[in-house]
Amino acid sequence: MVARVGIIGAGPSGLAQLHAFEQARSQGAEVPELVCFEKQGDWGGLWNYSWRSGLDEHGDPCHGSMYRYLWSNGPKECLEFADYTFEEHFGRPIPSFPPRAVLEDYILGRAGKSGVRRHIRFNTAVRWVDFDDVARTFLVTVESLDDGVTRTEEFDQVVVASGHFSIPNVPSYPGFDAFPGRIMHSHDFRDSQEFAGKNLLVVGGSYSAEDIALQTKKYGANSVTISYRSAPMEFPWPDGIEELPEMTKADGRTVGFVDGSTRDVDAIIFCTGYKHHFPFIASDLRLATKNVLYPPDLYKGVFFTGNPNLMYLGMQDQFYTFTMFDAEAWYARDYMLGRISLPGREEMEKDIATWRSREGSLADPVEQIDFQADHIDDLLKEVDYPDFDMNLTRDHFKKWEHDKVESIIGYRDRGFSSPCTGTQAPLHHTPWWEAMDDSLPTFLGTAPGYDETGD
Ligand SMILES: Cc1cc2nc3c(=O)[nH]c(=O)nc-3n(C[C@H](O)[C@H](O)[C@H](O)COP(=O)(O)OP(=O)(O)OC[C@H]3O[C@@H](n4cnc5c(N)ncnc54)[C@H](O)[C@@H]3O)c2cc1C
Ligand SMILES: NC(=O)c1ccc[n+]([C@@H]2O[C@H](COP(=O)([O-])OP(=O)(O)OC[C@H]3O[C@@H](n4cnc5c(N)ncnc54)[C@H](OP(=O)(O)O)[C@@H]3O)[C@@H](O)[C@H]2O)c1
Repeated sequence: MVARVGIIGAGPSGLAQLHAFEQARSQGAEVPELVCFEKQGDWGGLWNYSWRSGLDEHGDPCHGSMYRYLWSNGPKECLEFADYTFEEHFGRPIPSFPPRAVLEDYILGRAGKSGVRRHIRFNTAVRWVDFDDVARTFLVTVESLDDGVTRTEEFDQVVVASGHFSIPNVPSYPGFDAFPGRIMHSHDFRDSQEFAGKNLLVVGGSYSAEDIALQTKKYGANSVTISYRSAPMEFPWPDGIEELPEMTKADGRTVGFVDGSTRDVDAIIFCTGYKHHFPFIASDLRLATKNVLYPPDLYKGVFFTGNPNLMYLGMQDQFYTFTMFDAEAWYARDYMLGRISLPGREEMEKDIATWRSREGSLADPVEQIDFQADHIDDLLKEVDYPDFDMNLTRDHFKKWEHDKVESIIGYRDRGFSSPCTGTQAPLHHTPWWEAMDDSLPTFLGTAPGYDETGD
């Protein structure tokens, strides 16, 4: 039994870790002392929306990358907590693609119910994590942002749940110094209405590019050109959205592309992804990876092979989110409780290599979905996470991929069945393309007995 566990971050992954321990405690297990450090003033991670961009109120880089009018981009049934269903939280079935505030309410509902807030030190940034080879403990230096006081605490095990969609990857192109408009990254994007009436260039070929192109058009952009590097998304875009290959330069407001075409634009939004960036972790303990389904150096996607008492949660590229964080958190918990033992480093590295070689051979999103589902199954088979129909979530994700190809503005107007309760989700009262108000009360309507505070 270990004495003290430090958890960095109180977003969905950190909360999953705290909740997993509470579950064990409620079943009579002896649990280590848990201390979770969260640099923001509240919990929820990226789901804790902030209008701020650039630097936060303490002068640190803002963590938030979410923006107004963000709706779930996958069916909620594929991220449902098996021990706290949507029906339990909302008291009735709700549609499959909720807006941000509704998902935040759900995440916080479980965390509130399990009473984990008492473990969290808010406004406390982790500044440095190192390992003391003699004492065999981690030294974690934190700064209390309210008064600037730093202190170093000792932990037997550390869980890094600090997320990896906050530090933007921003390329540059010739002519940018003289571009007469805004050049920004999706990390700083907050409100589509800023771009009403404008001609926009969105750079990137993944979820942010897709969603920000649609969002800005929905809220009144005049035109949106998406520039891809590797491959076009080729969705059936609504009028006013087009895809062009990689940009080469800007000449005034005229942007050139590798196929020789040009477009005049008012603003450029880079949707070019994020960096795994852990400046607060000593280099020999720091995960170094791109946004992939199976990062290097993490056995079971969790344990840092150089020191398995250091665990990382949610560091994968994500089809699955909360379900995967729960699976990883339960597995990590059982290791920390001494219920699961790990093999030696060589065996761990062999196992990682097998997964990574399989990832390299995946042909399409359908195979990628199965790969990530297999990772989750691999963890869940060894822990006591409640049963749910994992195969149904695989099918849902594959149907969702197909729905997007059929209608990129209509895929959120579909309903899926719960892998936990079997309940079929009702359709939302307003098609997503016409739903301009994303507030929780508008999404849910006024159901008698519903308490918006989630208490
Ligand atoms: C724009 C955007 C939209 C998304 N939309 C969806 C969606 O629709 N559906 C979905 O399932 N997923 C979505 N995601 C994926 C998202 O990654 C997960 O849903 C989830 O938020 C990841 O949880 P996490 O706890 O791992 O990380 P985060 O949510 O990033 O939380 C990490 C926490 O760690 C804290 N922290 C970081 N560094 C430190 C430090 N040094 N000291 C103390 N605290 C620290 C942060 O303040 C934060 O609270 C989206 C991501 C982005 C960027
Ligand atoms: N709920 C929602 O609606 C919503 C909205 C936005 C984001 N999200 C979530 O946010 C997370 C991050 O998504 P993301 O799209 O920001 O990141 P991402 O999935 O990592 O994609 C990054 C994209 O940037 C491109 N890129 C990188 N460098 C480039 C360069 N120099 N020039 C041109 N293109 C470049 C990549 O193209 P290559 O293929 O060429 O490398 C890739 O298409 C995902 O989990 C997603 O689900 C959700």
